[in-house]
Amino acid sequence: MTALASYDDRALGVLREANWPDVSEQDFKTAVGSFPTGVVIVTGEDEDGPFGLTIQSFMSLSMVPRLVLISVARTSATLPRIQRAGRFCVNLLDDTHSELALHFAKSARGVNKFDGINYSRKGTDGSPVFPGSLGWIECSVLRTHLEGDHVLLVGAVKEAAVSEEPTVRPLIFWRSSFVSVDP
Ligand SMILES: Cc1cc2nc3c(=O)[nH]c(=O)nc-3n(C[C@H](O)[C@H](O)[C@H](O)COP(=O)(O)O)c2cc1C
Repeated sequence: MTALASYDDRALGVLREANWPDVSEQDFKTAVGSFPTGVVIVTGEDEDGPFGLTIQSFMSLSMVPRLVLISVARTSATLPRIQRAGRFCVNLLDDTHSELALHFAKSARGVNKFDGINYSRKGTDGSPVFPGSLGWIECSVLRTHLEGDHVLLVGAVKEAAVSEEPTVRPLIFWRSSFVSVDP
């Protein structure tokens, strides 16, 4: 099934009105890539052990109740594991974590991404958290929405913590590169 096949007639009308796909993939990537974001590794655990993937599409969604949103590609090997576990933990990365971010951006197919990786367990679920993270947010999956070639997962926040370390700096992704900020 293609991503477009999941749209009903009304939605297909909206896409036609937006002259889909007149905006080229390259123009779209260049435009959205010019928006700087933080970088996170979403972790969790199921019966096969710990899992994780690097994403930038993470945002705070609602204050009451406390909700966050992540967007994961339909092709992600980690997505079905998050859905089966029904929970995930967002690790907010520090600017020393660029190699870790690239490591968790490799596909999990046939590999255990946690082999040789240092982590501890935090929160109610004992979620994998990496040393030096700016903070972590542990969630239960409240709802999922299929949208195009991605799945949006709404997380209900169970626990949240930040680093007390004064020297931490966020890892930022901008125009296809990791950059750091010096406040
Ligand atoms: C900086 C950065 C940001 C990324 N953001 C996302 C994202 O928002 N959503 C997504 O699905 N993949 C994102 N990726 C790509 C995934 O990390 C990559 O596809 C990974 O292989 C997925 O692993 P999995 O197949 O084991 O789930 C990002 C990669 C990098 C390096």
